[in-house]
Amino acid sequence: MQKVVTSCILFFLLNAPLFAQISPRYKDKNAPVEERIDNLLALMTLEEKVLQMNQWAYGHNANPNNIESIMREVRPEIGSLIFRSTNPEYRNQIQKKAMEESRLGIPIICGFDVIHGYRTVFPIPLAQACSWNTDLVKQSCSVAAKEAWLSGIDWTFSPMLDVARDARWGRVAEGYGEDPYANATFAIAAVHGYQGDTLANKYTIAACLKHYLGYSLSEGGRDYHYSDVSNQTLWETFMPPFEAGIKAGAATVMSGFNDIAGVPASANHFTLTEVLKNRWGHDGFVVSDWGSVKNLIDQGVAKDLKESGLKAFMAGVEMDMVDNVYVDHLPSLVAEGKVPMSSIDEAVRRILRIKFRLGLFENPYVDVVAEEKRYLQKEDLQLAEQLAAESMVLLKNEKETLPLKSSFKNLAIIGPMVKDSVHIMGSWEGQGRPQDVETLWAGLNKEFKGKAKLHYAQGCDYDGEDTTGFAAALAAAYQSDAVIVFLGEKRNWSGENGSRSTIALPHIQEQLVAALRKTGKPLILMLSSGRPLELIRLNKLADAMVELWQPGTCGGSAAAGILSGRINPSGKLAITFPQTTGQIPIYYNMRQSARPYSGHYQDIPRDPLYWFGHGLSYTTYSYGPVHLSSTTISKAQRIIAEVEVTNTGTRAGKETVLWFIADPVANISRPMKELKFFEKKTINAGEKTIYRFEIDPIRDLSYVDSNGTRHLETGDYFVLVNDQKVKFELIE
Ligand code: NOJ
Repeated sequence: MQKVVTSCILFFLLNAPLFAQISPRYKDKNAPVEERIDNLLALMTLEEKVLQMNQWAYGHNANPNNIESIMREVRPEIGSLIFRSTNPEYRNQIQKKAMEESRLGIPIICGFDVIHGYRTVFPIPLAQACSWNTDLVKQSCSVAAKEAWLSGIDWTFSPMLDVARDARWGRVAEGYGEDPYANATFAIAAVHGYQGDTLANKYTIAACLKHYLGYSLSEGGRDYHYSDVSNQTLWETFMPPFEAGIKAGAATVMSGFNDIAGVPASANHFTLTEVLKNRWGHDGFVVSDWGSVKNLIDQGVAKDLKESGLKAFMAGVEMDMVDNVYVDHLPSLVAEGKVPMSSIDEAVRRILRIKFRLGLFENPYVDVVAEEKRYLQKEDLQLAEQLAAESMVLLKNEKETLPLKSSFKNLAIIGPMVKDSVHIMGSWEGQGRPQDVETLWAGLNKEFKGKAKLHYAQGCDYDGEDTTGFAAALAAAYQSDAVIVFLGEKRNWSGENGSRSTIALPHIQEQLVAALRKTGKPLILMLSSGRPLELIRLNKLADAMVELWQPGTCGGSAAAGILSGRINPSGKLAITFPQTTGQIPIYYNMRQSARPYSGHYQDIPRDPLYWFGHGLSYTTYSYGPVHLSSTTISKAQRIIAEVEVTNTGTRAGKETVLWFIADPVANISRPMKELKFFEKKTINAGEKTIYRFEIDPIRDLSYVDSNGTRHLETGDYFVLVNDQKVKFELIE
């Protein structure tokens, strides 16, 4: 390595007069980006190129997996930093070093995990998907981008597009649920939200689609484990969200930790190069996940670091996150002829391209504004409350237990979540601070001030066996008109490395509810979790249940508003709630099987407790018959499906219509049904509105085979809405 570097330096010194004559066209902001890159590449040494492909981390974050052993001094030639400070001045100082102390003045790209907000924490992505409100999701990403940009961040490692398959896997919290189309649609919203109209604008940051590919199939939901993914499932389930994100202009992609049927995602030439770059035309770069280059040794496909670097690089990973494998080994791999110089140039070109697009060469520094202007702006907090409110799902509401009756003057507020300001932010809380969080307790006090007296008791902790708090909880319940219990998961029970063998809440929480049930008072469960829960027992005990998810900074107001009735719930599940953990995997778009009415578990009902799409409201809707503009459709034609929905209740509501297609007979067995379109609209009490879905045969009726080839077969199809199923025929 040293030899290569020395000869590069020597080469440069000998040719210095020649370089001096080359005009630094890369500094000309009016020159086309590719010409600027050509120019820069011609000036760079191999060492400088390899440093561009390296990412270091600076500072600490809350993720215990991401603790680096030594804090290295930031080199001015480094390509990228994971920047965990919130101080823009500090970022500007580091950037100044890169601009002024490196030979060519190439700016550093600073990345950070801005997953569901930066300092204003929005609900976790799984919750966001349950809002079915792509505008709100896009806006939340713009707010996150603005707060992050003003803190020195150029690039977020988001959105996560791993389609959920197993709720034991804690990372289901970070994605948009179990449906590929929903993941794709929210991917587009997130990319547009982060990246804005152009990356060169202020307040925009580059997006990173992750974890490419198939990570959510980690066996048994154990994080980082092997995933056995067939090519059919890759094309049909896991690739579509990534393809949509790429088409939306996502600047970067992160390769996963997992295997894809034996070939690790970070050494997978097929997914990283043949599909992502060659087929979808992605022209940005791929960054490895934390340690995933080195991990190739643990996965048993590389004997040492050098080989892991060779495999990851040749597969199509351009940037090495924190492993230093590229910087240590690529120069000798080039010298040995194992890595062509043209491949190094192509990789560096991709990284530089994003830096040019971000405008970093012209504007390497971020504005420094006071913290009060940077974070938690009033309108952003309102947005956070609205998104939290729309993402909460009313799972059950027997005898209209909710909203709480105004005649209730005493309310028992019980449970370990009530006064929490940490777990309610969820995992990957960015730079969220507990002191900024409005707790559920604070939200309730604001909501019910002067209307009802609140009687608080914690009752029990999140887990453990201590029942000594039950007596106070029962006392609070007995003096109240209704009992509201806030239960849930700690934030590190989901997210990365947050696998659980059961998705039930710990026994102590269920015991508390069973004790409170005996009071005979109306019993309402408010659940905060980063995954679907096993509610088979709690469901029987509760009169009403609301899934709050991990709603972030403004969750308190949103939850209190749902209880009081100020907010009419409109969330619908983007992921199925199984009856029990043993029912996993269960998802609405399972394939057709040999004996659909047989082979189910004997000890639980056949269906899950709450299917994908479930969610109640305080108003009622009646769906008219689905009308098709034609019951036959030719391949080149489109038809319109319409359904009229009437708000038959007494208050306004927001109703999401989910449109599914089923293809009962094809050359390969197809999912039972697939979501193809959704739309959320406000309908006032007594009013009606028409929802429309234009069926495009290629987009909505075709399928891909295991080679990625699309097929469109004539024959019968069904369009499904709510409980209706209407047949139509595709003809030549
Ligand atoms: C590991 C996680 O898997 C990934 O999602 C995250 O972006 C990186 N660490 C960086 O923190």
